[in-house]
Parts: sequence; structure tokens; C-alpha cells
Amino acid sequence: MTRPRLSRKPALVRLLSVAAVFSIILIAIQSSFFTGSWTPVNLDIPILSHFQSNLQQCVANRGLGLTAHIIDHCNVILKFPQGTNSTWYNEQFKIFEPLEYKYDVCEAILLWEQYRNMTTVLTREYLDSRPDGWFDYAAKRIAQLGADKCYNQTLCEEHLNLTLPAKPPFHPRQFRRCAVVGNSGDLLKTQFGEEIDSHDAVIRDNEAPVNEKYAKHVGLKRDFRLVVRGAAGNMIKILNGSDDEVLIIKSVIHRDFNAMIKKIRNPVYLFQGIVLRRGAKGTGMKSIELALSMCDIVDIYGFTVDPGYTEWTRYFSTPRKGHNPLQGRAYYQLLECLGVIRIHSPMRAKRKQDWSDVPSQEMISNAHRAALHLKKKQAGEEGGLGQFVNCKVWGKSGPYGTGPVSGSTDMTDTRKDSNYNRWEIMPFESLRKEARKHYMQMEGVSLYKMDGNKLDDLVCVKHPLKSEA
Ligand SMILES: *[C@@H]1O[C@H](CO)[C@@H](O)[C@H](O)[C@H]1NC(C)=O
Ligand SMILES: *[C@@H]1O[C@H](CO)[C@@H](O)[C@H](O)[C@H]1NC(C)=O
Ligand SMILES: *[C@@H]1O[C@H](CO)[C@@H](O)[C@H](O)[C@H]1NC(C)=O
Ligand SMILES: *[C@@H]1O[C@H](CO)[C@@H](O)[C@H](O)[C@H]1NC(C)=O
Ligand SMILES: *[C@@H]1O[C@H](CO)[C@@H](O)[C@H](O)[C@H]1NC(C)=O
Repeated sequence: MTRPRLSRKPALVRLLSVAAVFSIILIAIQSSFFTGSWTPVNLDIPILSHFQSNLQQCVANRGLGLTAHIIDHCNVILKFPQGTNSTWYNEQFKIFEPLEYKYDVCEAILLWEQYRNMTTVLTREYLDSRPDGWFDYAAKRIAQLGADKCYNQTLCEEHLNLTLPAKPPFHPRQFRRCAVVGNSGDLLKTQFGEEIDSHDAVIRDNEAPVNEKYAKHVGLKRDFRLVVRGAAGNMIKILNGSDDEVLIIKSVIHRDFNAMIKKIRNPVYLFQGIVLRRGAKGTGMKSIELALSMCDIVDIYGFTVDPGYTEWTRYFSTPRKGHNPLQGRAYYQLLECLGVIRIHSPMRAKRKQDWSDVPSQEMISNAHRAALHLKKKQAGEEGGLGQFVNCKVWGKSGPYGTGPVSGSTDMTDTRKDSNYNRWEIMPFESLRKEARKHYMQMEGVSLYKMDGNKLDDLVCVKHPLKSEA
């Protein structure tokens, strides 16, 4: 007789303690709003734990069978159901793909939230600011240079000038909604074309064709395209006269690419931050990084994220082998439940567009602050949690809207009237309100990664604000 009561009591206690944690969090959030600083009470762990259980629920709701298992306030394991067909064989490690993936959610929040404030295009101001930027780093971005350093800077400038803007041509928060379109063959199972085209900007990958034949599956709008060095040969065919599409090279530049660029009118830049080794393999991650550095909401299409997938396919060619779908699937699901991306796929196509179980920007900001605070405390560095906490190197540049735009002075006739100016000399006043606000909040500072995936080694370049100019 007493048994049910006994079991009810702890439940009530648990409920009360959950409520208590909630109200502590609320109070903390409010007081940090008013004082602008963190309260002395250490709430980092309750805030992160709350974020974790939200993540767990989100994975359960959206993961199509994936489950999240909490280890502590930072670490989580994403598990595929027993019996999942893990058919991709890793030749290198002689194993089938594992069914479990461990992630440090605190690190992931810090890393991916940082991208929202980042510049991901290589600029002249970056090379000028970074120690040995020209001598060392520039040389790494040029293939067939014949030397491992830029002993002759003029020579390196000759290679890079065509693709090197003076300062960032794009801005954090420039667009509200962006679509990142992968190349997966399962795009042919859906008709996302119109939905994709309704975005403020569309980012595509390598040689993905855009034409009437595939329009209903992948749309027709083209704004950005990330390409690797090998793509130079057939680029002109892929672009098919679309002069506006911005090309962003996510590898190195070389003579052939420069020769090709001289024949087209499209703006071309180099991606900054390509030394990467992260959860999911493949080129899709860089498209997401690029998107986050410009867009509030990132919708992904054509990534292989559904269960029961057997092989690497592309929507425009015959299937090939050699991809690792489980690792990618788990990581993309983590990113969705961290509020980084929104996944669209055949198995999610009929789902109501309800994102209520994905954390809000406010919740992410709080978790971000807690993760940063905790990390600094563990490293024995108190204080200084402002937006420049990770700036290792500082540089200076001219005010927004002045200085040379892209390209060298000896542009070909084709390129002389190219479409660079659509973005590069866009007046500050024409930027979206959120982008202008961010620029002012950042005091005109652009953040760049020094090396691929490191969090706390940024190159920060200060631009005088209009009034100081
Ligand atoms: C697992 O996938 C392989 C390759 O696609 C297939 O041959 C096999 O039948 C699948 N096994 C199960 C149990 O679905
Ligand atoms: C540096 O490179 C430029 C351009 O290729 C060349 O004209 C110049 O002679 C080179 N300078 C030296 C010292 O080799
Ligand atoms: C590269 O461009 C910069 C800025 O426009 C210019 O000062 C420099 O002379 C150019 N270098 C070469 C080798 O063309
Ligand atoms: C190139 O674009 C035109 C229309 O702009 C289209 O008719 C043609 O099919 C396209 N060619 C290829 C190879 O996609
Ligand atoms: C990002 O920028 C915002 C201002 O728009 C700033 O408040 C925030 O601290 C920055 N976050 C990071 C991680 O740099």
C-alpha cells in the first residue's frame, strides 16, 4: 500500500528540483542581462545539463532512430539502433563503420557559434596581418609554386591577386535564410526546387549542374559555389553563362585556374580556414561553414542523412563507392540539434516544418556563454569573455567601402566588367540591418581563423568605423 506513495515522493522531489534549476537559470539569465556580467553563483553546469537534455529530446524527435546518451554536462554519445546496416567498409582502418559516436557538445557549440562571426574568404588584409602571412601562408595556397615559401612576394601576388580582395567581400548576418545544396542522389526523390529557390542565397558544390532538367529537384537560383582545384577544367561548362555565381575555391590556386578565371566574369575567391579535420568527412562541412559566416538560418538539402542508405550517389551521375554515411549522419544530426543547420531529406520531406525542439538562439547563446566560461575556468583564465577573447593576432585595415576591390589592375577585357562589385563595393547602408548591427557591435573587427579547426587563435582585423575614418 505504501509503495506507490514512496515512488511518487521522489518523482515530486525530482520535479521540484527541476523547477528549482529552471528558476536559478532564469534568475541567472536575467541578472546577467542587467549587470552585463556573470553572477558569482556557478551555473555553467546546470545550464549545460539543461541544454544536453534538450539535445537528447531533439535527437529522439528528429534523428530517425538515433539516440543521444548523456555522459556528463559536455559529453554525449549518439547511437544508431542495434542492427543498423553498417555497410561502408573503411579500407584504411579495416573496419565497418561504428554505430556509436562520441561528441563534446561544449566544444561543438564554441566552434560552430564562432563561425557566425567569422570571415571565411581569404583577403589581402589577412595576409598582411598574419605573421608571415605572405611568406608562409600564401605559399600554401599556391600549387606548383616551385618553392615552399614565398621568397619572392611579387611572384606570389601574381598567383593570388586575381582572387584576393582587399577586405571581406561578405559579412556576418548578410542573409537571413540560406540553402546549402549537396549533391546526393536522393535529391531526385524529392521536389525541393522551389523551396531551395525561395532562400536569400543558395550555395552549391563543385560541378553540380543547375538547369531545367533538375530544376524541380535542386532549383535554379545560384549565388555561391564551392569548388576544388581540379574543377578548373570543366568550370566554364558548369557555369554555363551564369556570371553572377560567386566561386569560392576551397583548395589551392594554380596557373590553370587563373587562366580559366581570366575567361569568365564571375567573382572568384579563396576559402579561408581549409585545414580541417572534423566529425564528418567530405566537402559539405565547408559549405556549411561558409553559409554560417553569412546567414542566420542554414537549410541543408542533398546531404546523405537518411537511414538505409547504401552507397555514395550524386544526382547527376552514376553511383560511386566511398563515403561514410553513418559518421556523417550522426554529426549532421548533432549540428541540427545544436541549432546550426536544418536538415531536409526525403524521409523528412513530409514532416511539418516545426523547429520547436531545436534550441532557440537565446538558449544557444546561454549555453555558449556557459561553455566558454567553463573552459576558461578550467584553463585557469578568469575574466575577459568578450567577443575578442580569441584574438591572438591583431591587424588594421582601411574603413569599410574604401581601398581596392578584387582583382589586379591588369584584368582581361572579359573580367574588367565582371560582377565583383555586386558584393564588394556594396555600400554599408545597403547591408541588411542585422549585418550592420553586428558590424557596429564588433567595432568594425573582422575575425579570421588562423588554422582550420582551432578555436582560440583568431586573426582579428580592425576597420575604422565610418565616424573615425
Ligand atoms: C546491408 O547492406 C548490404 C549492401 O547494400 C546488403 O547487401 C545487405 O542485404 C544489407 N543487409 C541487411 C540486413 O539489410
Ligand atoms: C620575382 O618575381 C617576379 C615575377 O615573376 C620577377 O619579375 C622577378 O624577377 C622576381 N625577383 C627575383 C629577385 O627573382
Ligand atoms: C597585386 O594587387 C595589389 C593591390 O591591388 C597591387 O598593389 C600589387 O602591385 C599587385 N601585385 C602584382 C604582382 O600584380
Ligand atoms: C545552359 O543554359 C541554357 C539556358 O540559359 C540552357 O538552355 C542550356 O541547356 C544550358 N546548358 C547546359 C549544358 O546545361
Ligand atoms: C558574435 O558576435 C556578437 C555580436 O553580433 C557578439 O555579441 C558575440 O559575443 C560574438 N560571439 C562569438 C562567439 O564571437
